[in-house]
Amino acid sequence: MPSEFPSPETRKRIQQAFDPDLLRVAGHRLIDEVSIHLKKAQQTEGKVLEWCSPEHNKSDAASWVNERICPSNDPEALIKHFTELIKTAMNRGINLHDPRYIGHQVPPPVPLAGLMDSLGSLTNQVMAIYEMGPWATSVESVMIDKLGMALGWKKDTFSGLVTHGGSLANLTGLLTARNVMLKDSWKAGLPHYNPDKSPVVVTHQDAHYSTSRSVGILGIGTSQVVKVGLDSKRHMDPNQLETVLARLRKNGRPIVAVCACSCATPIGAFDPLPEIAEVCRRHDVWLHVDAAHGGAAVMSPRYRHLVSGLDRADSIVWDAHKMMHVPALCAFVLYRNREHRFEAFQQDAPYLFDPTAPGQADYDAGMKTIECTKRAAGFGLWGIWSLWGSQLFADLVEMTFDLASGFYEQLMEAEDFQPLHKPECNIVVFQYIPKELEDSPLEEIGEFQLNLRRRIVESGQFYIVSTRLDGIGALRVAIMNPLTTKDHFNALLEGIRVEGKRIINMI
Ligand SMILES: Cc1ncc(COP(=O)(O)O)c(C=O)c1O
Repeated sequence: MPSEFPSPETRKRIQQAFDPDLLRVAGHRLIDEVSIHLKKAQQTEGKVLEWCSPEHNKSDAASWVNERICPSNDPEALIKHFTELIKTAMNRGINLHDPRYIGHQVPPPVPLAGLMDSLGSLTNQVMAIYEMGPWATSVESVMIDKLGMALGWKKDTFSGLVTHGGSLANLTGLLTARNVMLKDSWKAGLPHYNPDKSPVVVTHQDAHYSTSRSVGILGIGTSQVVKVGLDSKRHMDPNQLETVLARLRKNGRPIVAVCACSCATPIGAFDPLPEIAEVCRRHDVWLHVDAAHGGAAVMSPRYRHLVSGLDRADSIVWDAHKMMHVPALCAFVLYRNREHRFEAFQQDAPYLFDPTAPGQADYDAGMKTIECTKRAAGFGLWGIWSLWGSQLFADLVEMTFDLASGFYEQLMEAEDFQPLHKPECNIVVFQYIPKELEDSPLEEIGEFQLNLRRRIVESGQFYIVSTRLDGIGALRVAIMNPLTTKDHFNALLEGIRVEGKRIINMI
């Protein structure tokens, strides 16, 4: 150890890094800059995305921690440098608050939800045990109650947890299903491997990839995923489900779960849950519903019918960081039967879970989540729910779902565009087919869509995504921004036409 430790310089540096007054000045600056940035984004003054290659961005990001480290620890210099950092980060990021962002299922968060969320970051209210985040734990627990009761479940009969995203939520829900349906699998693993009798997970054909990934992680094996056929609107077909389950039962295959979707990612199709739940009940099978995107429809009297039957699921995944417009990540797993709340993990951690306060275990998030240290994820949702009530969530769902219907009508009216389905929510998949391509093979039309999308994104005019439906490329929008309007959609169609013509002229 040096003779004088800590040195005055060390002490000064640490004190400055923790200085609440420095935070106050920096915090005001941050909010001023974010407010200006969001205003510009909402008024479409810049680009949706300032496209830079990953190598370019990475090299610039590296420069700030190599040759551009703040030259002085003078508070004024630090604030000036801090301002440059946040401006750079915002300018290089994607602008979800720009109404021309019509891309992935990630929303512009309600800004005050972001602010509430920052409380957790600033004070680090982490969770594993109640004592380390008593208020954050209580907030999440209340939100679990509110979502469960919104589904129609009675208080104290159900349970749940909040985790870092829908993928982890699917893994947790399916782990619980595995442990309940395959007794002893937590301890013994799946040692009785017999290819003819090995356990299966039955899924929607369009299930999000995190479902089959979970099956792989759980040791069941992705080749034991049995996909159920879809109807013409890409819903899981209950009749085909019945046939699949009857065959599996006849062959003595243990069934871990049926995974249905509310809604499935590709086109936002909502499964007929009442019928699916009935088939599962007849075969005594665990029903897991991935409602990561569509769960929020429960909040809207006009769209609630889409998730009718969701209350009959044994486990549900519901991402508040999708259609409830809070910052990522805030994903819920809900169990209809409260008895299942500790089934996912049977962990002995004497340094954490205190046997002298057994009643508290219900509040120790670490008993139910994969994470030990876990970010407080509920502040944003709890905050905006308290400010605007549940009506805000109904408004957001209705606005974005209605916008999708309007966009669909615009596509139907345009001769050179073709919607590939009637939207059930805020996801629309379509193709641009100019005259020049009308007689081209489907594959060629599909590849054209993918090229078109890349050009649109790199131009910064709009952010949309692409997908493949039955192997054929298509354009896809998820209308996540409630400030998008019909005029933006018109401009999108026009922008697609212009870029499309450019590609055709290059061929
Ligand atoms: C239906 C569905 N489930 C799960 C996920 C994964 O959620 P996350 O990205 O929060 O891990 C997605 C993501 O879009 C999804 O659409």
